[in-house]
Amino acid sequence: MKLRDCTQLLFALCFLLILIQASSQDERKPYIVYMGHLPEEATRTNAVESQHYNLLEAAIGDHQLARESKIHSYSKSFNGFVAHLLPHEAEKLEEKEGVVSVFPNTVRKLHTTRSWDFLGMPLGVERRSNVESHIIVGMLDTGIWMDCPSFNDEGYGPPPRRWKGKCVTGVNFTGCNNKVIGAKYYNLGEGPYDANLSPVDDEGHGTHTAATVAGVPVAGASLYDLGKGTARGGVPSARIAVYKVCWSIGCSDMDILAGFDDAIADGVNFISVSVGGASREFFKDPIAIGAFHAMKMGILTSCSAGNDGPSPMTVENVAPWILTVAASITDRQFTTEVALGNGKKVTGLSINTFSPGKMMYPLTSGALASNNSREGFGNASACEYGTLSKEKVKGRIVYCLDGMGGQDYVIEELGGVGTIMDIPEPTDVSVTTLIPGTFVEAFSAGKAIELYINSTKNPRAAIFKTTTKRVPAPFLASFSSKGPHILSPNILKPDLAAPGVDILASYSKLTTITGYPEDMRHALFNILSGTSMSCPHVTAAAAYVKSFHPDWTPAAVKSALMTTATPLKIGRDKLAELGSGSGQINPTGALHPGLVYDIKIDSYVAFLCKRGYNNTVIGLLVGSKRVNCSTVKPPQGIDGINYPTMHISLATHNSSISAVFHRTVTNVGYGTSTYKAKVTAPRGLSVRVIPNKLQFTQLHQTKIFKVMLKGSPMPNEKLILSALLEWNDSKHNVRSPIIVYRPPFPPTTT
Ligand SMILES: *[C@@H]1O[C@H](CO)[C@@H](O)[C@H](O)[C@H]1NC(C)=O
Ligand SMILES: *[C@@H]1O[C@H](CO)[C@@H](O)[C@H](O)[C@H]1NC(C)=O
Ligand SMILES: *[C@@H]1O[C@H](CO)[C@@H](O)[C@H](O)[C@H]1NC(C)=O
Ligand SMILES: *[C@@H]1O[C@H](CO)[C@@H](O)[C@H](O)[C@H]1NC(C)=O
Ligand SMILES: *[C@@H]1O[C@H](CO)[C@@H](O)[C@H](O)[C@H]1NC(C)=O
Ligand SMILES: *[C@@H]1O[C@H](CO)[C@@H](O)[C@H](O)[C@H]1NC(C)=O
Ligand SMILES: *[C@@H]1O[C@H](CO)[C@@H](O)[C@H](O)[C@H]1NC(C)=O
Ligand SMILES: *[C@@H]1O[C@H](CO)[C@@H](O)[C@H](O)[C@H]1NC(C)=O
Repeated sequence: MKLRDCTQLLFALCFLLILIQASSQDERKPYIVYMGHLPEEATRTNAVESQHYNLLEAAIGDHQLARESKIHSYSKSFNGFVAHLLPHEAEKLEEKEGVVSVFPNTVRKLHTTRSWDFLGMPLGVERRSNVESHIIVGMLDTGIWMDCPSFNDEGYGPPPRRWKGKCVTGVNFTGCNNKVIGAKYYNLGEGPYDANLSPVDDEGHGTHTAATVAGVPVAGASLYDLGKGTARGGVPSARIAVYKVCWSIGCSDMDILAGFDDAIADGVNFISVSVGGASREFFKDPIAIGAFHAMKMGILTSCSAGNDGPSPMTVENVAPWILTVAASITDRQFTTEVALGNGKKVTGLSINTFSPGKMMYPLTSGALASNNSREGFGNASACEYGTLSKEKVKGRIVYCLDGMGGQDYVIEELGGVGTIMDIPEPTDVSVTTLIPGTFVEAFSAGKAIELYINSTKNPRAAIFKTTTKRVPAPFLASFSSKGPHILSPNILKPDLAAPGVDILASYSKLTTITGYPEDMRHALFNILSGTSMSCPHVTAAAAYVKSFHPDWTPAAVKSALMTTATPLKIGRDKLAELGSGSGQINPTGALHPGLVYDIKIDSYVAFLCKRGYNNTVIGLLVGSKRVNCSTVKPPQGIDGINYPTMHISLATHNSSISAVFHRTVTNVGYGTSTYKAKVTAPRGLSVRVIPNKLQFTQLHQTKIFKVMLKGSPMPNEKLILSALLEWNDSKHNVRSPIIVYRPPFPPTTT
């Protein structure tokens, strides 16, 4: 911003902004300096740390200041540090030898807004419990509440011998057990001062995700009798290692990296991260960096895709070595009925744990309860904060038009006894309300309520306790983020879907079930929604597959889950396939995929060469001075990676379709087998598979093939074309969705 941009009127304000900008130029902020693989001499931690000090001193130009500015060194699983820097110092560091990237610390957010039976994995499913009990899952989340029956360690032996982690105790956290074998917390940013400085979970999120992965079965679990059943994790014998990197303000990059640094070195087998934020270039993104080093050690990282759907181009955590998870809807919906004084009944979605104490309560609307003598702005029809009259709300149920949310809080504060909230779009998530409440569709139920209020002198209503009903499934949840992503426009992301709507799992007693401090309800189980909830389902499914195939690479496990997934149903959302990946996980099916699309470190190196990373950078990432992209066999095909799905984003709205994908499949089924390709393609898209028959004579044999797409520019009414490749040997069906995305015209400016 320059002074001449300021009009006279705004001059003062503008000048202030310039001052603020100027002052931010000389305020030190945390920057992460990422340096790739640990150097050989890293066995001596001191050597790495003194390397960090030397770099800092060179950039800052002052010994003492360099000492003071360093916040933390990453030196267990990869090389790097975080320090308070000025922008020009950060720039200087980026040019230094041995530095891959330098980026400012940002704060990421958690992806929250009867699942295992639904996935075909009943309580008595065949398990390798003795192998499973050697699996350690690292949870990068908000910590854990140990006093949950889900983390009871009765019958568990000591932690696996390779475990090198620690258990840190502190406020409200007295220690670990043989189920939760490790717990640490990270607050390099000296996070919120009101928080408990210990691995304890004050949010409930981390407890919920950990229990979804590996909670032991708890019979009769429910939230005030809602969703009653046996709550359990997907791999109940596995061990949990907790890395608390998220606080009430979110999860900062430097803490996430510290969590990965420890988790990888501690000996976890899987890492689950239900966190996201604006994606940056892979090696400026702490989750992509952490997951890359995890992958090199054979650890698969699964991440939530984000809750910014239903629009396209909203997916997060898109690096190809990450398993990116979308949220699907299970066959159970939580609905809440409202009876009106005229005998009519309407149904909404919510989680309302309250039963009405009376037959009927007086009913009003935000418009009618408006405080007409109020000062200031706000929309009373939408029951916005500060717009309603206490006298007109007290003792009543209030009907509110669609607003900014939190109407239940507003009505509660004014002494109202319930709220019925309008929502413009049909939803699929049930949100817990602070007082009796429900969300109804504006154009049907909402209109009926409004008409009734208008036509009656003393309108009345009752909101009943929530019940469940069966609904068709699986569909993609409307909030689940969709691809494509600008960082990897030719890799289909998210990869997979798993249940992420109305999931019952353990919760922390340090918070209330709505998170509002005004709420009096604390519970051992809670119902939450989000891709945060779907991610741990996939982590568990991956651990389950690994317990049968301990020698499989992270990519092989991921491929098995993807090629055996159940396609989601297509409902009203015509772009659902941009958000569902291969479909919903089928954990038992994934034990026998027949073929896998494997990706080893050499293939990732080739992929990075193709992406334009130079020898120096790739050398740092993989810890080899000998990387030479000129001698690496260039990966062929449009995506340059052996991915189990095929995806292209056309350059412009009127581009014609032309792409080739090169693939290698490894036989993990039977020794001798013949697979035939079956293609299902829509009009306007030609898909050729060459060769279309693969003959294997032994296990672990690999075969290559290519898939060629051709087509004219897509018609204007279509944004995607979807085809399917299936390799079938009559015993296995290896599915790969093929999705073509056409950007809209005119191009969106965002
Ligand atoms: C948490 O710790 C605080 C301080 O020690 C204590 O007062 C409180 O009772 C504890 N809360 C629970 C739920 O254990
Ligand atoms: C209406 O708003 C005014 C001004 O904000 C406030 O003083 C008054 O208490 C409110 N009246 C009711 C009945 O809530
Ligand atoms: C108040 O909000 C409702 C619902 O969003 C909207 O229809 C209405 O136009 C708004 N009224 C004003 C005055 O902004
Ligand atoms: C109810 O009455 C209000 C205020 O008179 C009016 O704005 C609204 O359109 C009416 N609603 C219906 C559904 O008739
Ligand atoms: C490699 O790439 C990095 C980052 O883009 C750049 O700073 C460096 O100068 C490049 N090195 C060579 C040898 O081209
Ligand atoms: C990389 O390989 C090319 C081709 O073999 C060779 O010309 C070049 O010198 C090599 N570069 C390095 C840094 O070894
Ligand atoms: C594609 O659309 C652009 C922008 O409207 C136009 O300039 C161009 O001529 C079109 N190309 C073809 C092949 O139709
Ligand atoms: C492929 O194999 C499966 C066994 O997994 C079989 O049930 C199915 O009918 C076959 N599908 C096709 C399309 O041939």
